[in-house]
Amino acid sequence: MNPASDDVTARIAASRFLRACRRERVDATPVWLMRQAGRYMAEYRKLRERYSILEMIKTPELACEVTLQPIQAFDLDAAIIFADILPPLEGMGLSLEFVKGEGPVIHNPVRSAADIDRLRVLPAEDALAFTLRAIELVRGELDARGIPLIGFSGAPFTLASYAIEGGGSKNRVAVKRMMMSEPALWDALMSKLADVAGNYLLAQARAGAHALQLFDSWVGELSPQDYEMRVLPYSRRALEIAGRAGVPLIHFGTNTSGMLPLIKSAGGDVIGVDWRTDIADAWQEIGHDVAVQGNLDPVALFAEWDDLRARTAHVLDRVAGRPGHIFNLGHGILPETPVDNVRRLVDFVHEHSRSLLSRKHA
Ligand code: CP3
Repeated sequence: MNPASDDVTARIAASRFLRACRRERVDATPVWLMRQAGRYMAEYRKLRERYSILEMIKTPELACEVTLQPIQAFDLDAAIIFADILPPLEGMGLSLEFVKGEGPVIHNPVRSAADIDRLRVLPAEDALAFTLRAIELVRGELDARGIPLIGFSGAPFTLASYAIEGGGSKNRVAVKRMMMSEPALWDALMSKLADVAGNYLLAQARAGAHALQLFDSWVGELSPQDYEMRVLPYSRRALEIAGRAGVPLIHFGTNTSGMLPLIKSAGGDVIGVDWRTDIADAWQEIGHDVAVQGNLDPVALFAEWDDLRARTAHVLDRVAGRPGHIFNLGHGILPETPVDNVRRLVDFVHEHSRSLLSRKHA
């Protein structure tokens, strides 16, 4: 390492976002937004006129450009690599398409033991080289600005939902049915998904990601018992593999208010909390030995500014002052979100938390 890159490493390690992941004191609460690169931004829509989402993900220069769009537009404390949770399924042999107006579709969903047998577990360096390369390119742009980069993967259950259902689904009956009635198939599938997710996360950290987020977006469909018995061991395995990188791990799910301590016990230095729980109560329940991320309702961004500001202040007032809060939405930002509200939100998180924190430490 040369002295210049040592400087960059130290500056990023001292960033608000990474300090909050480690539950250290910060001058202001760090903020980033799930799906911060996306259709609510005109710059993103403009590129989408020319390229499909999969083309953008698989072309490292485009993925890099899109990752940087929200960083250039807003005073965000972290970037998240532009990718999706589903390309790893393609690498396993499933055929993925994003259909306009419908969302993702898997044309050959997993239904039988033979289908599961056929699924490949390839090194991420081979199957997902485009995202690893995009991470290197983004680091080249962000290092000088001292902004950390987050890598991510879908969690085994959320990946299994898509692999089995073949797309979005209402009550996730097919995936839950396999989980409940075919324990051997379920174990074979979830074991492969845990290895793919864990190794993909680890490879992203090795490519330069400073923190890793595991998205278990659909896990709230499960009873706590089913989560604990049939899902948690595989999420734990993915997080254990990812943990070998030594970077902070964020463990996120939605609709998890009945199972937050279980989510924590699967692993993670930071636990994601959605808006269905009060964030201070959730943190109390999870335990203050981990950090938390959340938890504004993404729909609040459609409200008048005064109202949005009050809701944002409420989240901060509930927790600011306790080291280890990363401000975020409770789920991804929605396509029609007004850009002005995003800008005001990000600035207000910094401004309001700075005044709370300076009062606290005065
Ligand atoms: O946060 C970021 O900015 C990074 C990019 C990111 C995308 N998807 C880009 C994307 C991340 C972190 C994801 C994660 C993801 N993808 C999840 C987990 C998080 C969550 O929101 O629950 C899930 C379940 C998916 C699967 C997925 N991808 C769906 C259901 C859809 C279609 C629905 C929709 O919004 O159109 C996508 C497409 C997708 N992934 C878009 C983006 C920006 C929209 C694609 C477009 O441009 O049309």
